[in-house]
Amino acid sequence: MISTVIFLVFGLCGTGGASAVERAAGQRSLQTSRSLYEAAPLSPSDLIIVYITTPSRLPLVHATRPARRGIRTVIILQDASEAARLNELYGGEKSEHNETFLAWVDPAAGAGAGVKSGPYGHMPPAVTHPLHLLGPAWAMAPLLAHAAVLASSSTPPLATTAAATAASAAASSAAGGSSPPPPYRWMLIARDDTLWRPHQVIRLLSQYDDGVAAAISDHFIDFNGRKLLAPSPAAAVCLPCSFNLTELLGRRHPPGVPQPSCPVCRPAGGCEFRFNLCGGLTGGPYCGTKRFLGSGDRCSHSWAAGGAGVALSITLLTYLDQEEWAGCVRAQRPSTGERCLGRCLWRNGFSFTHPAAGLSDGLTRNVFSTQHMLFGNPFVRQEIFGSNADAVLGPAYNADEEAVKAAAAAATGVELVPGTELRDGAAAGIAMPTSTRLPPAGEHDCDADCRQWLLRRGVNVHLDVPYTDGIDITSAATVLQTAAENVARASD
Ligand SMILES: *[C@@H]1O[C@H](CO)[C@@H](O)[C@H](O)[C@H]1NC(C)=O
Ligand SMILES: *[C@@H]1O[C@H](CO)[C@@H](O)[C@H](O)[C@H]1NC(C)=O
Repeated sequence: MISTVIFLVFGLCGTGGASAVERAAGQRSLQTSRSLYEAAPLSPSDLIIVYITTPSRLPLVHATRPARRGIRTVIILQDASEAARLNELYGGEKSEHNETFLAWVDPAAGAGAGVKSGPYGHMPPAVTHPLHLLGPAWAMAPLLAHAAVLASSSTPPLATTAAATAASAAASSAAGGSSPPPPYRWMLIARDDTLWRPHQVIRLLSQYDDGVAAAISDHFIDFNGRKLLAPSPAAAVCLPCSFNLTELLGRRHPPGVPQPSCPVCRPAGGCEFRFNLCGGLTGGPYCGTKRFLGSGDRCSHSWAAGGAGVALSITLLTYLDQEEWAGCVRAQRPSTGERCLGRCLWRNGFSFTHPAAGLSDGLTRNVFSTQHMLFGNPFVRQEIFGSNADAVLGPAYNADEEAVKAAAAAATGVELVPGTELRDGAAAGIAMPTSTRLPPAGEHDCDADCRQWLLRRGVNVHLDVPYTDGIDITSAATVLQTAAENVARASD
């Protein structure tokens, strides 16, 4: 249905079917945003940063303030009264830091009696990682932030639902193009210890049309039925619409390359790429099980690594219905928010667009080159945090690894060995991937040119503060704050 609407809008633009265009655009605000994309350069006020955190980790979010000047930030917590208290304390969106605190109060949680009811129902399965506890709020966060920003936007008429917004945008565009700008254009969501770099974000997103539904990242995770791939070279994703593969790779390019997809990336496109990459065969270094390969658009979804994050266009958010989305989130028994986000986007007919920056800059022929990742690249992390990160967090990493192993063994009664066939990687308590950190011996894979390019392009860095007790949050926040001040000072 969605693709029909898009096709209609695009198809009719050429033939000048004005009234039909209005009818089609009455449902979606494609045209308004499209002209904006062509006319107005992206600025920090077009961005929203979304963080999901707990009160004890809030200092990490506050530490990134210097780098977020002029960017609205929505901070999602588990607890509504805590969110209200923090809005009072920090002045909410009217404060100089422009921070709004929200919580997701799941209406289904109160419906049944019993303390244990919640997003995971009356018989919640054992969670094996703190990120599973934050999962539902994380997965709801983009929709909550979208609704809150629309509601507080001064743009008349005040729209409270996606449909109303799209309709009013389309109406004003039909009335002569002097429509008010959308309340934001791109939403950035990652972990609470991810530091976004606004110059680089704007440089990347300026290449994309926020008037089409897009979820952009280049750092993905897959569970292939046997193990986690992080970052995954087999992610079910598309390349940007504007890419010409013949130009970039020559006429005889290799078969296992994601295809450019227009105007949006659908699951079927991603599945086709994965199937071709694997030659239709399971096993090998990453092709896993049959379910992973799937058929048609029924392969298993990929997700953007939490610390690396993803950029979502406002148009994508206007397609998503909050109630339906909440149903999808509740059905994800315990899962990390980032994985749930990937799955629910997939359920709604969307997959991710991979910017393949190294390929388009002629630096590599490998779309999934980890060296050229712009989101959560470990080399950029090292450049930005220096040795501070590992000095502060190194001991915690070692302890965390042991704790996760113990928790997983206790929860499942089996020791996890690579290659074990598992029904669901998250439920079995597989350790969280650490792909945003540099592996101990990986320092020599990126020379001076590589680092320079990455510093210019990398959109964020993930400090990666473990979600365990006994972490020195104050010291970690100091590392983040120093880096955020440097990011704010940098002119490029
Ligand atoms: C918060 O951000 C929005 C969008 O950038 C801006 O319009 C508003 O003035 C900001 N508020 C403050 C108090 O800076
Ligand atoms: C892609 O590039 C090739 C080679 O430059 C060109 O012949 C072809 O027309 C291009 N395709 C599109 C759709 O622009």
